[in-house]
Amino acid sequence: MGNNQPIFETTTLWDFPTQNYGGKPHGDNKYPGVTPAFVTWNLIQRYTKEGDLVIDPMCGSGTTIDVCKEENRKVLGFDIVPYRADIKQADARNLPLDDEIADFVFIDSPYSDNIKYNNHQDNIGNISCEYPQFFEELEKVAREINRILKPWKYMAWVIGDQAKKKTFTPVGFKIYSILERCFKPVDVICVTRHNQTSNTPVWHHRARKYNFYLRGFKYLIIMQKVDKENLISNCSLGKEDGIEFVVDHIKSKDKGRINNINNGQTLCIEHNLIEKNKTKREIA
Ligand SMILES: C[S@@+](CC[C@H](N)C(=O)[O-])C[C@H]1O[C@@H](n2cnc3c(N)ncnc32)[C@H](O)[C@@H]1O
Repeated sequence: MGNNQPIFETTTLWDFPTQNYGGKPHGDNKYPGVTPAFVTWNLIQRYTKEGDLVIDPMCGSGTTIDVCKEENRKVLGFDIVPYRADIKQADARNLPLDDEIADFVFIDSPYSDNIKYNNHQDNIGNISCEYPQFFEELEKVAREINRILKPWKYMAWVIGDQAKKKTFTPVGFKIYSILERCFKPVDVICVTRHNQTSNTPVWHHRARKYNFYLRGFKYLIIMQKVDKENLISNCSLGKEDGIEFVVDHIKSKDKGRINNINNGQTLCIEHNLIEKNKTKREIA
């Protein structure tokens, strides 16, 4: 392999000097917000095998399609405004797909309204992340991904934060907490940003002078679809005398999904608390 070939990453910090690898294009590196092809390549190696079906609901210039085809994966790419003929027109909140067909889902969504992809009325990239509606719409996308993904399979979501006119919006953390409601967290990777338009001496000068930071990385959030019954969540209900009870809801498959004391399972105060495994903390 030459220097420009992808490396199978082993840490949670990924830094690729260029968008593309190898001799052929993967997506279009002139497309605004294009995904580094190295990211897709790494995810495909880790979470899929040859012949698996990969789906990208916001496919942009088609990076996922090009990488997957080269790596002998089946692939379907959608976008609200398709950039090429092999991308299908669809809204990522309502994909024309049956339930539980995907072996892996990759998505690099808008982070806010910072990039003008198109003027389509359903383009989520026309909504600012400073409005709650931005996250409400992306939550619908997350739930749609959950619907099309086979149980126990993985998804990965690229997202960046926004700092605009002294207002910082931690878009990555907010998306993480949305995803946590639908999936089991697997890991979070930082992908170094290189070719953004603000990577110029003028912007570096402004960042020092006006005391703000330029975005240096994006998050790559990796999650797994687990059976809802196997999700462990802190209920945090049952506030009593300044104490908040935090109890895990656990219904494991091998216990027949039955919550009872004989199974060693727990319920919160709201849902008929069993004392075992209960923890409590002071409410601040
Ligand atoms: C960051 S770009 C994707 C880049 C792509 N991964 C690539 O490598 O070229 C985000 C994409 O989301 C698309 N998009 C925005 N809202 C959408 C929606 N509701 N349904 C489907 N695609 C949408 C935009 O048109 C844009 O192409």
